[in-house]
Amino acid sequence: LDNGLARTPPMGFNDWNAFGCNVSEQLIEQTADYLVSSGLRDDGYTYVNIDDCWLTHSRDAAGNLVPDPAKFPDGIKGTADYVHAKGLKLGIYEDAGTATCAGYPGSLGHEQQDANSFAAWGVDYLKYDNCNNTGVPWQQRYDAMRDALAATGRPIVFSMCEWGEDSVWTWGAPTGNLWRTTGDISANFSSMLSIYHSNVQLAAYAGPGGWNDPDMLEVGNGMSFTEDRSEFSLWAEMAAPLIAGTDLRQATPATLSLYGNKAVIAVDQDPLGRQGTQVSSSGGLDVLAKPLANGDVAVVLFNENSSAATISTTAGAVGLPASSSYKLTNLWSNAVTSSGGAISASVPGHGSVMYRVSPGSGSSTGTTHPLLGASSHR
Ligand code: GLA
Repeated sequence: LDNGLARTPPMGFNDWNAFGCNVSEQLIEQTADYLVSSGLRDDGYTYVNIDDCWLTHSRDAAGNLVPDPAKFPDGIKGTADYVHAKGLKLGIYEDAGTATCAGYPGSLGHEQQDANSFAAWGVDYLKYDNCNNTGVPWQQRYDAMRDALAATGRPIVFSMCEWGEDSVWTWGAPTGNLWRTTGDISANFSSMLSIYHSNVQLAAYAGPGGWNDPDMLEVGNGMSFTEDRSEFSLWAEMAAPLIAGTDLRQATPATLSLYGNKAVIAVDQDPLGRQGTQVSSSGGLDVLAKPLANGDVAVVLFNENSSAATISTTAGAVGLPASSSYKLTNLWSNAVTSSGGAISASVPGHGSVMYRVSPGSGSSTGTTHPLLGASSHR
């Protein structure tokens, strides 16, 4: 959607994966505090997003949505003010149907009134779900909210949560800033893997302002550390929104080391805005390549199987220009190596190795200068 927003994939937090319906102003504000104190805000995690269950069960006499006063004693406006004061943005959830998935009032037929409420409260991001949609065609319902948001004049990221129905990627770019490509994720490897398989095929549809959304991150919610690291690597490689789905306040240092890897975040947020693609996939051993703005390529070697395997590719196969040497930076270990073109690693079961590969000379030790040769030290 060409509304000036989400020129790189949105980053932030959403409560649903870890808390379900147990959302509250306290959780949102404590998470905002934590994003600031942990440094994650400054790493790019800007949107603090409220999911389903923030409403009361009926509209007021004037037809307005009413935030649950027990969960949000200061309302959405008060919560937004708090979040904004921390240098963050506030997201909210509604539904393009008669009721949300959890049964609270939906926005179908109330688009402008509800968009006006969101704008008046200071909302910066709307996740718009697909339950109870009475069979009204997808694009009609989502275009209606897009237009209502635009009419408010407030910049609001529009996140379409229609689970990939109606092949949304084929029509979503002029409607929303991101669109879910699959059903809901859960915190296990097979769920993550099946979503990856679907989403990775859709790279051609993604770009600045309009992203494929393979759902919110489950990093920290129960997969192994190796699996969590694969999810974070793959989501970054696919230019996916990086929406943390765990209780960050309680996250372990290991979990935070994944969310906070600046070099991997930079791959996700690269200004070229290309989603990585599979350059090979055979027997559950995948090679992905994502071209980056400075001419580097981000490469993920992903092992879908449960036992370790060597995964190999070449600089040429991932789209790099011919060169006598390449610099490989391992984005998880920070090790820098030099290669004549081979890109290869032993990858643990369910694991990933992620490199940023640059054409030209690598580290100064043991490398060959492309023009001068190995023996020419000055
Ligand atoms: C749907 C969405 C989820 C979440 C729930 C809330 O299942 O896909 O991401 O928002 O609704 O009820």
